[in-house]
Amino acid sequence: MQLLDGKKISKELRQALKGQVADFTATYGRAPRLDVILVGGDPASQIYVRNKERGCQKVGLSSQSHLLDESTTEAQLLQLIQELNANDAVDGILVQLPLPQHLDSAVMLAAIDPTKDVDGFHAINLGRLVSGLPGLVPCTPLGCIRMLETTGVPISGANAVVVGRSTIVGKPMAHLLLQQHATVTVCHSRTRNLPELVRTADIVVAAVGVPEMIQGDWIAPGAIVIDVGINRMPDGKIVGDVAFESAAKNAAWITPVPGGVGPMTIACLLENTLTAARQREATRQAP
Ligand code: GUN
Repeated sequence: MQLLDGKKISKELRQALKGQVADFTATYGRAPRLDVILVGGDPASQIYVRNKERGCQKVGLSSQSHLLDESTTEAQLLQLIQELNANDAVDGILVQLPLPQHLDSAVMLAAIDPTKDVDGFHAINLGRLVSGLPGLVPCTPLGCIRMLETTGVPISGANAVVVGRSTIVGKPMAHLLLQQHATVTVCHSRTRNLPELVRTADIVVAAVGVPEMIQGDWIAPGAIVIDVGINRMPDGKIVGDVAFESAAKNAAWITPVPGGVGPMTIACLLENTLTAARQREATRQAP
């Protein structure tokens, strides 16, 4: 068994990005810029936003955080999003989720200019992914693909089983794998024969949010296991959606939790910000 070390892989990705960001900055006389909007004081979200700022700094991206009061109205948030859409200096806009209950995240996400949607959550970008068109892809599934690529094991022709069908991870993950020519099965809470299906997988991606639901003896010998789950147990321990110890006995490659997919998500957000900036500059120069 080999560990898919997200800390190490994300560091390498950030290192590569740093050079590409420097090239962009030299070419266009400005660094790509990410604007992050946080509404309210959720402690976990505050940490995420701080980590995103730090990530930007490390690779030379410019970042601006907008910390709004919990009482912010829908009209006020929409106005900020529209200002950032119209601001030519802004390449990426991210609205940190979850939003306070009185704000409708679907409405807010739909308001973001799809060319600046570095989360890849806008229906236009999800539609582009399904259609095989270039666009911005959700960061966590993109991070999973980047990790798979480091194994050197071909995705093409592999049997991939994605457990979980969220719009943020499961569905885009399935489409990214399909784009890379895997045979993809998507499982969810109503799947009848989950253990049986997981046993057919060369690649397992677990994104259900149920601690250690995927058992070790479901993992076929030699499979690659990507665990997107981050579950905090009553004793404070963080575990994934896969029973790591037993799964590691069968897997050829497996991600640890924490230190697996987690660090890749931010690295891919930085990658998306550069992608968005490049795409905007490319269209600007088109006749
Ligand atoms: N909250 C937790 N993860 C994410 C993410 O990837 N994007 C946004 N916008 N909010 C989040």
